[in-house]
Amino acid sequence: MRYFIGADLGTSALKLLLCEESGKTVASVSKEYCVYYPSPGHSEQEPSDWWNAFSQGMLELTKGIDKSKIVGIGVAGQMHGLVILDENDCVIRPAILWNDGRTDKETEYLNKVIGTEALTGMTANIAFAGFTAPKLLWLKNNEPHNFKRIAKIMLPKDYINYKLTGVHACDYSDASGMLLLDVKNRCWSREMLKICGVNECQMPRLTESYQSIGSLLPEIASQLGLSPETAVAGGAGDNAGAAVGMGTLSNGKCNISIGTSGTVFVSSDKFVCDSKNALHYFCHANGKHHIMGCILSAASCHKWFCNNVLHTDDYSGTQKALTEALLGKNTVYFLPYLMGERSPINDTDATGMFIGLRPDTSSEDMTLAILEGVAFAIRDNLEAIKSMGVPISSATVCGGGAKSPVWLKILANVLNITLFTPENEEGPSLGAAYLAMMASGACMGFGDLPPLKTKTEICPSPEIAALYDEKYRKFKKIYPHIKNLYKEIKE
Ligand code: XUL
Repeated sequence: MRYFIGADLGTSALKLLLCEESGKTVASVSKEYCVYYPSPGHSEQEPSDWWNAFSQGMLELTKGIDKSKIVGIGVAGQMHGLVILDENDCVIRPAILWNDGRTDKETEYLNKVIGTEALTGMTANIAFAGFTAPKLLWLKNNEPHNFKRIAKIMLPKDYINYKLTGVHACDYSDASGMLLLDVKNRCWSREMLKICGVNECQMPRLTESYQSIGSLLPEIASQLGLSPETAVAGGAGDNAGAAVGMGTLSNGKCNISIGTSGTVFVSSDKFVCDSKNALHYFCHANGKHHIMGCILSAASCHKWFCNNVLHTDDYSGTQKALTEALLGKNTVYFLPYLMGERSPINDTDATGMFIGLRPDTSSEDMTLAILEGVAFAIRDNLEAIKSMGVPISSATVCGGGAKSPVWLKILANVLNITLFTPENEEGPSLGAAYLAMMASGACMGFGDLPPLKTKTEICPSPEIAALYDEKYRKFKKIYPHIKNLYKEIKE
């Protein structure tokens, strides 16, 4: 019996799981840490908090386990975050996260002055505020003293891999979200590095997600009580990692994640891109490609309403009164743009908003509006993907939101597709454990991975889907009406 560890370096917590070769989860641990919002629209985390959560979580996870049987570790993580180290390997400043909106000027410069056509030619993508390249430009413009000290540029999960192995590496799926990778040719884009004022020696070595980047440093192996031969996989961006865990590997397969962010991920055998479409065209963890749409606030909208407005953390309790009879009939709408929005509207000034409140509006109506607003924003992305001629009739769903039966029912009807939930909805950590299996040589290929175990199938109902179709048409009209107002009310 051999064991594998998969980690998901999330935004609200680190999730660790220990699994057997059969894919069976033997133990899991979750460790929360803080997100700092130093100014409106800014979001940061301390890499030392990630490492403390990881090293303490590993000791808890492996307690009572024969540690000599652990042969591989894989890490999937929140994408796009900028982590910078100086020549002494000290972290220069807190990491600037994927949902940080401070780079609006730099994003505009990239999209308007460099131009979306040129960016697409160099990287297959256009600029979004959360991507890493605009953050480097922001740093150059606003913190030149820090910019000058950069010796190593890395993404969040690569910081953990660096602590584990001493190897500065990054897999293609995560590297795709930096806007510095030539996605088509799988190499750093020299032109983009030049535009951002950095050079290749500051960048990580590129690797496939399923390849080993090295084994544990001796001092780390003894700190964690593991063999120094334990292999560490290249790992993946959390969405590509989730796709591996959810079996979203063959052409056209779709996985939806409802975590802090919300994503629609479609696997593609071939390289695809489109400069006019505000989606992401990235490498997959299986050596192929994917198309993705990402909304910045999904389950985080519900968490915000529960914590900050209802003052509860009983998330499922707040949804108890939401019966099927209410679906498609709510007259309250919610725009889920708490951190601005990524795709498809690409607007850092957008904020959250309720519309349709009346004296008899209840907190249940507002909760329902939040679940629906997130589903509508996810539909915006699904529509953008479908408009590229990619047909989607079903999807798997993972992330915290997949634990809510009513949210899944809403989503199936808003998208009008069949949804499947897995037995283990922790997609990224399971996918990362599978990458560890491959990196350690215990599994020879994606085709040999344990098959997905489905828990539930949620089919749309023609009546509810028709009601939601009508509501979606109205939802779509709200943002264009207030788009210009967002900038004005920001000051
Ligand atoms: C994807 C994205 C988010 C983060 C958060 O582009 O920004 O899904 O990876 O986990």
